[in-house]
Parts: sequence; C-alpha cells; structure tokens
Amino acid sequence: MNNTKLSTALTLNQKITLNITSLAHGGSGVGRYQDFVIFVPFTCPEDEVQVEITSLKKNYGEGRLVNIITASPHRTPPPCPVFGQCGGCQWQHIRYEEQLKQKQGIIESALKRTAREEGIEIRPIIPSPKVLHYRNRSEFQIEGSKIGFFERGSHSLVEFDQCYIADQKINLELKKLKGTGYLFSKKVKIYLNQDEMVRSLNLNSPGEDLGFSQVNTLQNKNIQDYLIKELSKPQKHNGQILDLYCGQGNFSFPLNDLGWRVRGVDSNAQGIQVANKAGRSGVTFSVGDVSCEVKKLLKKKEVFDVILMDPPRTGVDKNLLPLIHELQPETLIYISCNPTTFARDWERFKKISQYKIHTLQPFDMFPQTFHVELVAIAKK
Ligand SMILES: C[S@@+](CC[C@H](N)C(=O)[O-])C[C@H]1O[C@@H](n2cnc3c(N)ncnc32)[C@H](O)[C@@H]1O
Repeated sequence: MNNTKLSTALTLNQKITLNITSLAHGGSGVGRYQDFVIFVPFTCPEDEVQVEITSLKKNYGEGRLVNIITASPHRTPPPCPVFGQCGGCQWQHIRYEEQLKQKQGIIESALKRTAREEGIEIRPIIPSPKVLHYRNRSEFQIEGSKIGFFERGSHSLVEFDQCYIADQKINLELKKLKGTGYLFSKKVKIYLNQDEMVRSLNLNSPGEDLGFSQVNTLQNKNIQDYLIKELSKPQKHNGQILDLYCGQGNFSFPLNDLGWRVRGVDSNAQGIQVANKAGRSGVTFSVGDVSCEVKKLLKKKEVFDVILMDPPRTGVDKNLLPLIHELQPETLIYISCNPTTFARDWERFKKISQYKIHTLQPFDMFPQTFHVELVAIAKK
C-alpha cells in the first residue's frame, strides 16, 4: 500500500528539517514531512538536513539542500571537484556499498509499486569491477575553446581536468584535444574501440554516430557471462534466439558461440553494419523497427525458444508486447537500464500472458549515478 500523504500545509521557500531515509530513481534523497514525501538532490540516507522547499505537487514536493545538520555515516568525500555542478553523477558523496543497497531498493520498489510484484526474489546486485574510471565512451560539449559537460538542468558548460567516471585513456585524449585547438565542433565523442584504442569523433549531426555500445566493458562481460550460464547450450538441435534491440550484436555473438542460432533486430543501420562485419554463420541481423520485424517473423511462422529484449531507457514499444505473446517463446529475457519502465512493461505483459519471472539479477553498470541495469528471465 502506498501511504504517501496527498496534501500538505507546506509552502514554497519554507525551510524545514528532514531525515533522509532512502534514495529514489532520479538520484534524490527521500524524506517525509508529516508523511508528505519530499525529494532532495545530493542528500544521503541517514542524513538529517535543512531543506528549502522548491516545488510542491499534489502528492510530493522537492527541496534544495541548505545545510547538513547531522551527516550520515554513509557519506564519503566526492573525488571530483565539479561534483554537484556537473550533470553527470548524482551519488559521488555516497559510499559504494550504500549505492548498491539503494539500487537494490529502487528495483524492489518499482516492482512493488508499478508491477505489483511482491514475491519475486531479487538477487543481490553484482557490483561494478571498477567504481571510478569505468566508462569506455563519453560525449563532451564544446563552446569556443572550452570543453566539458553541461551543468545539471542547464546548457552552461562546466569545465574540468578529468572526468572521474571516464576511462583514463579518454581523459588523456581530452587533455590532448584541449591543447590542440581542435575544438571546431559542438560536441565530441571520445571512446575506446574494441581493441581498447582511444578514438575521437566530431558529432556535428546525429547521423555521425556509430550505434549503441555498452559503457562499462567489464560489467558488460559479466552480463554476457551471466546469460551464458543461465541459458546454457540449446536443448534442441537448431535452438533459436530472437535478439531484439540487438545493437551491434553484443549478446547475439556470445549466445551464438554457445550453439544457438540467433536473429538480431535493431533500428540503427550503423550498428547492424558493425554486427554484419563479423560475417558469422548462424547469426543474421536485420535493420528495422522491432514491432515491424516481429510481424514479419510471425507471418513466416518462425519459432524462437528464447526472446531477448534490451530496449533503450524508454522501455519496450507497447505494440511489441502482444506480438511477443503470439511468438510464445519458452524463455523471455528482458535486459533493462531503467527499473521504472521495466516494471511498467512487465505489468502490461502480465495482463496478456502467463509468464512468471524466474530470476531477476541486477548489475551495477553505472557507479556514482542512480542508474542500474537488470536482467529478468521469465518462463512460460
Ligand atoms: C540499450 S541498447 C541495446 C543494444 C545491445 N543489446 C547492446 O547490448 O549493445 C538499445 C538499442 O535499441 C535500438 N532501438 C531503439 N528503438 C528501437 C526500435 N523501435 N526498433 C529496433 N531497435 C530499436 C537502439 O538502436 C539501440 O541499439
């Protein structure tokens, strides 16, 4: 039951004292003022804080941290000097063990509130092998001779010497770029290629991108290994997997190595071009919208033992869910980077199908931020 109070006597700009009890999707700390929920960025569970009310909605409010009255034992000094100003990280002031605990809680609460699932066992989150300097790609904003990230909620640029979550090779390249007067673009992407070599790409228009790839290489490997362990070899000769939102075939290839035939679908033509370069037998890719492609597969009466879906943050296209139900795979795997849209999609899918979540494994792909990845495996 949601016991959030639906109205309050609070007023804008009022200063109040709050005890922060948890962290929410979005990164803010959560406190209650006479049962009315207030979200406060840059606070930490077990903080006692003075807060100024900045916005009031029907069933919650938002506040600005004015003063820490009693600091939580879960606090730690943020390593980055522009933390709080830059829009990249929300949780550098929180010890890593507490970040993990809170991510577990965010998933649990999304499932309870949105998908009305209470009994599912959520396995303990797998920590990221690196908690700083884990990102293999970053996009930096450029303004004249300045390079950096945008400030939180604005378009003013924050400059820095290094990004504490980007790989050190990216930071070295950033330093070089700053020194070369190369800055004629509006945006630059610096990334490590498959051989871990650093590259940079001017992003003057969206069409110049390379397609999606996972940002945390070591944690991505853990997810690939997890899928291999959970799925094991196909039980039937010719077992087939449909990999929807396949990107460059990040999961298609390891599953093909295991003996599965794989069909991959993604709407990004550049990503599929990269995937096709591998020229593997037993794996075929097509460029297109997932729902359109699945309709074609249904017409051809294709059979899939497993369907894997790894949609963007916005979740799965609503029209896709009834088509997945029609395909009737034995196993459905949903990889999500947003517990809120995952819970919404799972609630929608439960209404039209008889699948049950068998295992739910969170992975911390994005330390120092509120973002979390999860792999849900459902069976008929
Ligand atoms: C989170 S990424 C996952 C990519 C891949 N599974 C991986 O691990 O690298 C989501 C992918 O969905 C693709 N995408 C988004 N909307 C789509 C749609 N309607 N139909 C097909 N692909 C879509 C994007 O191009 C992107 O590659």
